[in-house]
Amino acid sequence: MILVTGGAGFIGGNFVLDWLKDPNAEGIINLDKLTYAGNLATLESLKNDPRHVFIHGDIGDQALVTTLLKEHQPRAIINFAAESHVDRSIHGPAEFVQTNVMGTFNLLECARSYWNDLDLEKKAAFRFHHVSTDEVYGSLSKSDPAFTETNPYEPNSPYSASKAASDHLVRAWFHTYGFPVVTTNCSNNYGPYHFPEKLIPLVILNALNSKQLPIYGDGQQVRDWLFVSDHCSAIREVLAKGKLGETYNIGGWNEKANLEVVNTICSILDELKPRADKKSYAEQITFVKDRPGHDRRYAIDASKIKRELGWKPTETFDSGIKKTVQWYLDNPVWIEGVVSGSYRDWVQQQYN
Ligand code: NAD
Ligand code: DAU
Repeated sequence: MILVTGGAGFIGGNFVLDWLKDPNAEGIINLDKLTYAGNLATLESLKNDPRHVFIHGDIGDQALVTTLLKEHQPRAIINFAAESHVDRSIHGPAEFVQTNVMGTFNLLECARSYWNDLDLEKKAAFRFHHVSTDEVYGSLSKSDPAFTETNPYEPNSPYSASKAASDHLVRAWFHTYGFPVVTTNCSNNYGPYHFPEKLIPLVILNALNSKQLPIYGDGQQVRDWLFVSDHCSAIREVLAKGKLGETYNIGGWNEKANLEVVNTICSILDELKPRADKKSYAEQITFVKDRPGHDRRYAIDASKIKRELGWKPTETFDSGIKKTVQWYLDNPVWIEGVVSGSYRDWVQQQYN
């Protein structure tokens, strides 16, 4: 088996679903705290699949993690669990330090102790895969080259600082203890099951609900967008063939300014589900107060993973964004389940 943490969230959930599509795949133990961002509805199709064992719990719980490892003897851990939203980290950074730093520390320590007791063959095969972000590298100007794996860490938000701290712990556990780790730093994901606090799903749902489409500042901040199933395939490659102690950047070669992304979503919706008054959804675009410390540009140079492991993304932004909009149109039940009371409270706090 493999142990996945945070597998009820956006990327972890997609990863679990993708992995178990293969009838010969190993089983998954899925440890998730089910914070506001965790959603078992994403995993509904696995309800009767014995290869998926869901455990409701915290990566920071030493007793629980120790028992899980002993009982299920995974050959790898993939750590997706995190607090992941930059805006929430600005309002309340404590949870980010708790889960992203202390939680990763606990997971590393429990895993190291488990790994130490494995027999030689299992010890050599074991992997701890830490899932991280391009935000640890800081912000680029328009003319800077894209981030490579050797860029210095310059995190600017409480979120990215906490992820940077976790990356450093993972690195140190390799160098000091020889603990077998790989780290991946990925750009912005989008696709099915994305919680609608993030730009793309927020804009799709707000558009359909006749609400404003909030653009922070001038909307010219650039992100490098990657369809989530491409991120999942990259993680599988790194888990299978990645070199221990290495980090791999993962990206979509799809740099877009936020305003362009929002206009693209509006055009797709204009075609697939025109407004009753036949005007464009772009009429709902509203410029709002900027995010404090807003990073101007992220861009990933994903040549190392292509060169060394042969991975490259399969979706273009055009194909991926169309699939994503269509998915939100086709899945009103999943959406209804996530836009609950606590989601409304967040929207009220952030946008009013
Ligand atoms: P998400 O917020 O959608 O999901 C996080 C999941 O982790 C949720 O299911 C939540 O319940 C769970 N969780 C939170 N705290 C936990 C804890 N203490 N113990 C156990 N489970 C806990 O996040 P996501 O967008 O799926 O991101 C997954 C990982 O990928 C994160 O580590 C994030 O930093 C990283 N990442 C995300 C992106 C992106 O664009 N979303 C890009 C690069 C890297
Ligand atoms: O780069 C990878 C990171 O991408 C991940 O590590 C994070 O977990 C993930 O949340 C994401 O961070 P961003 O801050 O880039 O994503 P978000 O969707 O929150 O915002 C994308 C851009 O859109 C960003 O420049 C802020 C802007 N934005 C966002 C929201 C929610 C708006 O203009 N308006 C909004 O309402």
